[in-house]
Amino acid sequence: MTFLQLIDQAPHQTLVIDSSESGPLTGSITVPGDKSISHRALMLGAIAQGTTRIQGLLLGEDPRSTAACFSAMGAKVSDLAGEWVTVEGTGGELKEPDNVLDAGNSGTTLRLMLGLLAAQPGKFFAVTGDDSLRSRPMKRVIAPLTDMGAKIAGKAGHTLAPLGIQGQQLRPYHYHSPIASAQVKSCLLLAGLSIQGDTTVTEPSLSRDHSERMLQAFGARLSIDPATASVTLHGPAHLTGQTVIVPGDISSAAFWLVAAAITPGSNLLIKNVGVNPTRTGVLDALAAMAADITRENEREVTGEPVADLRVRHSALKGCPLGGDLIPRLIDEVPILAVAALFAEGTTTITDAAELRVKESDRLAVMASALTQLGATVTEQPDGLEITGMGADAPLVGADLDSYTDHRIAMSLAIAATRATGKTRIHRAEAAAVSYPDFVKTLSTAGRWVG
Ligand code: S3P
Repeated sequence: MTFLQLIDQAPHQTLVIDSSESGPLTGSITVPGDKSISHRALMLGAIAQGTTRIQGLLLGEDPRSTAACFSAMGAKVSDLAGEWVTVEGTGGELKEPDNVLDAGNSGTTLRLMLGLLAAQPGKFFAVTGDDSLRSRPMKRVIAPLTDMGAKIAGKAGHTLAPLGIQGQQLRPYHYHSPIASAQVKSCLLLAGLSIQGDTTVTEPSLSRDHSERMLQAFGARLSIDPATASVTLHGPAHLTGQTVIVPGDISSAAFWLVAAAITPGSNLLIKNVGVNPTRTGVLDALAAMAADITRENEREVTGEPVADLRVRHSALKGCPLGGDLIPRLIDEVPILAVAALFAEGTTTITDAAELRVKESDRLAVMASALTQLGATVTEQPDGLEITGMGADAPLVGADLDSYTDHRIAMSLAIAATRATGKTRIHRAEAAAVSYPDFVKTLSTAGRWVG
């Protein structure tokens, strides 16, 4: 048995991890391109006038879904595997597609695209997704779009995909969102591009601001008030193709940050990671837990802050994680729950009910999987209470399932490297949604040896 074994049981894969063969993480690695920025570069490129050039695009399944949808609506997207991906834009006039648009597993593709489609007068669009996406709430974007004049019909009282959209000329609007959601905010801002007047979104606290940054770079006029977490797009806006260099995804780097923090002897450099302040909640949380992480070589690349992150093993301590921090680490809660197992003291995660409507119910799935590994984790309606077991947490290998959720598959794989004996993670292929090379990097990161 080697450290890692991938068993193909088409269409699924089981990842078997034998922790007795694992070692410290040293040396340096890179992580794939940021998923959020990749989606936005493809979408803005598709609706802009002229050519957009993208370097470092994430080759995961989610951006592939975005590229396929917009290709079906007239954008010309070059081979996604090329070093540079080019998008010949439609100038905002999306072609009515011949068939249903399939967003696959990607909430970002579906929700952001809805804003653009709803605002294409006289055109009809049908959209769907995989089993997970068809069960995720769409009312959060359909309700405000309907207030703006959109005509969207769907399952379960027009709240679930599949959805049918009859494009309309939309009206200016100020939406006070009850949730901090970049997908909701971005959907409405994209709808606002073709509206004569202002589209404003106010959030309870600031969600990731990649859309705002990139819309401005492509030529849209925005007013941003950080004090009230409000953003206004002054429409109409005509976007012009740009060059976008996509940094590494901090949500993917988070797996290695935690892996190195909990593995004795580790000293790992993760190069070229996006450190946009609306995304660095995971660094703040790990700092509060006494992790040893430093930023090196800080710089700005096509409008986004970037740094190299050095992480060394250290003794962690539990702490409360909640409030405005949560939107800034929303996708990192599963891997932070793994870190909390190796801390002294309890970690209490609150204000994270949104986790229940991600690719899986991440609170329920993590509580159950970590309990199977021998931990004490209590599920709360809006979070988790995790009893830390210290640096030598005695986790025991188990038979686990990803529930087809990429971040669950990868978080459990990291936990498994520190559990005695073998852990099996079923449906591990889910990792390819955001990190196609995850298993490869897991087997080679630093001196992890197989
Ligand atoms: C994303 C926003 C987040 C995040 C998702 C990507 C985006 O969702 O969980 O993985 O690219 O806008 P919400 O904005 O719905 O919280």
